[in-house]
Amino acid sequence: MDGNGRWAEKHRKVRLSGHRAGAETLDNVMHYCREVGIKYLTVYAFSTENWKRSKEEVSGLMKLLSSFIKSKEKILIKERISFRVIGRRTDLSLKLQREIAALEKKTAGGDFTLVVALSYGGRAEIVDAAKAWALSGEKGELTEETFSKFLYAPDIPDPDLIIRTSGECRTSNFLMWESAYSEWYFTDVYWPDFDRAEFDKALESYSRRERRMGGRLK
Ligand code: FPP
Repeated sequence: MDGNGRWAEKHRKVRLSGHRAGAETLDNVMHYCREVGIKYLTVYAFSTENWKRSKEEVSGLMKLLSSFIKSKEKILIKERISFRVIGRRTDLSLKLQREIAALEKKTAGGDFTLVVALSYGGRAEIVDAAKAWALSGEKGELTEETFSKFLYAPDIPDPDLIIRTSGECRTSNFLMWESAYSEWYFTDVYWPDFDRAEFDKALESYSRRERRMGGRLK
C-alpha cells in the first residue's frame, strides 16, 4: 500500500492523512475483492523497517490500526471476513496484540480472509521459521514443504498476484518465501487513489499472463 505520504504531499496534507485515506482504500479494495471472488487479500501495512520512521508517524499508524480493528469488528463478523495478522507481533504494544488476538478469534472461520502484515519482513519471517523449526525438535528431513509449515500463516495459500502501487518497482522484503511464483503488477498510482478501475487493470493484466510455475505449458 505504497504512496500514502506522496499522496498527502500532493494534496498539501500531513502524512497521517495519507495513511487515513489509505485505510479507506483498503476497506474499498477488500470489499471489491469479495465481489470479484478473491478469497485472500494480504496487505503490507507496517514493515520491520517502518519502526525507523518518526515517533509521531509510528504512533499515528498504530492508532489507525487500533481504530480499524475496533471500527470494523461488526462488519467483519457480519460479512464473514476473517482477520489475520502476520509479522513479529510481539514488537507491537500489548494492547494492540490483545486487540488483534481478540479480533482473530471472533472472525475465525470466515469465507474471505484479510491478512495484515504488521512489523513484517520476509527475511525476518524466514529467520523466525528457522528458529521455530529448530525449537520444534522435528525429526526427519527438512524440505520446502516441512519448512513452510513454520511460516507465520502456513494455512494461507501463496499469492497469485502482488500489486505494488506508487511507481516503486521493488519487492521490499514482502512475502519473500510465498511470492516465489507470484505475478507482480506495478502501477504509478498512489495507494489512496487505487480504486476499482485500477484494480480491474491489475486483474486484466494478470489474466493475460501465462503462469508456468517453473514448468512448460503446452
Ligand atoms: C507506505 O506508504 C504505507 C505505509 C507504511 C502504511 C500503510 C498503512 C495504511 C494504509 C494504514 C491502514 C492500514 C490498516 C491495516 C488499517 P508511504 O508512507 O511509504 O508513502 P510514501 O512512500 O509516499 O512516503
